[in-house]
Amino acid sequence: MARIAPSILSSDFANLEGALDLCRKGGADQIHVDVMDGHFVPNLTIGPVVVKDIRKATSLPLDVHLMIENPERFIPEFVKAGSDFITVHAETCPNLEETIRLIKGHGVRAGITLKPGTPLESIANDLSSVSLVLVMSVEPGFGEQEFIPGSLNRIEKLREILQGVSPKKRPEISVDGGIKLQNAKAVIDAGADILVSGSGVFGTEDPVATIKAFKEVK
Ligand code: DX5
Ligand code: ZN
Repeated sequence: MARIAPSILSSDFANLEGALDLCRKGGADQIHVDVMDGHFVPNLTIGPVVVKDIRKATSLPLDVHLMIENPERFIPEFVKAGSDFITVHAETCPNLEETIRLIKGHGVRAGITLKPGTPLESIANDLSSVSLVLVMSVEPGFGEQEFIPGSLNRIEKLREILQGVSPKKRPEISVDGGIKLQNAKAVIDAGADILVSGSGVFGTEDPVATIKAFKEVK
């Protein structure tokens, strides 16, 4: 059984409170918040001021995915806004070790992620210092894209690499992009601990029932 992190990117931004309520009712494990800057990815979304209000409207852990250049500039603000996890893209961090230290120094859990085309080897040295590795199964930037099938191999490969990390320090694998109820089992079988889903939750008729169904997938 995997944990489920609905991505509010696909929810109604005019009614975030309603979306957070659906997540709570469905039994979501955490809330995935996509932060985009129009530079690292060709889309703009939300910043710390919105995260701060989301924090007030839910008690679920906030899993903040930073798709922004120079993330270290904004990490203190996202911490202050109430993030529980902050995930950065290795491509945006010239000194990834330092950025991870910065996040953890604020008492927040650190995650690292890569675009689908960036080799997993580029994060090999940092695996034991983070709580989660986010495998992007679409090009970051937009919701509602198709799951890239090769991502399953990538999850399996990461799982294998993580066997080399002592269990106490082993990060969890989260997978983000194009995940629907229909492919959830394949993603879990490949090794995912956490499933991020935006349109796969909020694009369905009954998001509460969908979240519950995700949690039943074995
Ligand atoms: C894409 C974002 C994803 C996105 C997922 O850049 O990181 O979190 O919201 O949306 P779906 O599940 O619709 O692909
Ligand atoms: Zn995301």
